[in-house]
Amino acid sequence: MQIAHSKTRVKDPFLPPGPKGLPLLGSLIDYFSDMLGFLTRVSSEYGDIVYYKLGSRKMYLLNNPEHIKDVLVTHNRNFEKSRALKRTKIVLGEGLLTNEGDSHLKQRRTIQPIFHHQRIRSYGDVMADYASRIGEDWKNGSVVNIHKEMMKLTLSIVSKTIFDSEMESESDEIGECLTDLVTLFPQMIFPYSEYLDGLPLPANQRFHKAKSKLDKIIYTMIEERRSNPGNRNDLLTMLLEAQDEEGDGEGMTDLQVRDEALTLFLAGQESTANSLVWTWYLISTHPQIEKKIHEEIDSVLSGRQPTLDDLGKLSYTQNVFKEALRLYPPAWAVARLVKEDYEVGGYIIPAGADIFMSQYVVHRDPRLYKEADRFIPERWDFEEAKNLPRFAYFPFGGGTRRCIGEPFAWMEGVILIATIASKWKMRLVPHQKIVPEALITIRPKNGMNMILEKR
Ligand code: HEM
Repeated sequence: MQIAHSKTRVKDPFLPPGPKGLPLLGSLIDYFSDMLGFLTRVSSEYGDIVYYKLGSRKMYLLNNPEHIKDVLVTHNRNFEKSRALKRTKIVLGEGLLTNEGDSHLKQRRTIQPIFHHQRIRSYGDVMADYASRIGEDWKNGSVVNIHKEMMKLTLSIVSKTIFDSEMESESDEIGECLTDLVTLFPQMIFPYSEYLDGLPLPANQRFHKAKSKLDKIIYTMIEERRSNPGNRNDLLTMLLEAQDEEGDGEGMTDLQVRDEALTLFLAGQESTANSLVWTWYLISTHPQIEKKIHEEIDSVLSGRQPTLDDLGKLSYTQNVFKEALRLYPPAWAVARLVKEDYEVGGYIIPAGADIFMSQYVVHRDPRLYKEADRFIPERWDFEEAKNLPRFAYFPFGGGTRRCIGEPFAWMEGVILIATIASKWKMRLVPHQKIVPEALITIRPKNGMNMILEKR
């Protein structure tokens, strides 16, 4: 899988090839002006292991599925979450995404049973109900920004399933807080940005305001549950009741529950919303595939709402979602910090360096996928899909840090697509420039306007 190296590579025999960048800044400007474009370019130019600098940070981009497996699974103990993710602790505290080591394992053990298929089964109906309801406000021939619509829909679903809250009044406020937090994220991870934290900059003020609003909402809910433990079936109640059965048998403090609930809330909303946005984009621009998915949905559902029992029969719909997650993986990269010097492909990556592994890049690697840039849901039924290396496809990460919400996300994705596509078609408003933008997840930079057609 080695690729010829370009003349612009860093000329150091001990370093993997990569773009030279500018003095002091390295590739900072290129990277932050178009992250996905930069990563795609350097990986096709320099091959399996690419070295570049972002300011003083040493970055190693791994593009070979075997190397990725070694980092996420085989040698996972030698890595921590990246500096960027550590920075999100100022919002997420010590929730599952940001927690490390034994503390992470203990929390993961405590929370894992909550995501067992049997326990989240009942959420299937919530998902289908909410997806049907969104159509009540839609009109034949009208134009919607599908990004906004999917954010609203997944927000109402996480609000209901995590907090048993309809959140009608709060949902706009929460939506605004989330948008603030997500759009301010690139500034937060910019090298040296931690030195600006204490300054009264407008961005910092917006950030802290958004965070304290979210905190207030969640602590109020925890307090309500603790003082009035009813018979609720939401994830917040399950978190409050969860105990580390295999460990010390203890439950969580309010702070831990707050961190975990907020983590699930943030991790569960934006990624699922964007996975659906790109799915609609791909379906609406591929009429043959749209026809096939409609045929399957119509024959399985005959106009009724899907239930969990239908999921197995909606195999083409599943392939469509899977293929959309390949081309537009909402989590477009995972990053790790090296704890002790680490050898990969004959190079030593020093302790303290950053390793970057991009789903967006690997999922579109022509060495792994035929017609890698094309949307072909059928590919998942072909023999060659079975022969792909394990980490050629990793929209949900892998190893001990694999997405805990994956079963939830699959269920939500397929149920929402089936419910909406059984009633509606979408057409992209012509002459829009659709630009994928890599923030925490990949979203369409300027939104995505769709013309609705009632089926
Ligand atoms: C299409 C939707 C989703 C995608 C693409 C996705 C992707 C990912 C990825 C790639 C990771 C691993 C990050 C890393 O290793 O650094 C992750 C972790 C995580 N995800 Fe998801 N996710 C999705 C939906 C959800 C949902 C619905 C929830 C919760 C309801 C959720 C909760 C989490 C949590 C808590 C973690 C941290 C797990 C740990 O480290 O123990 N995700 N997700």
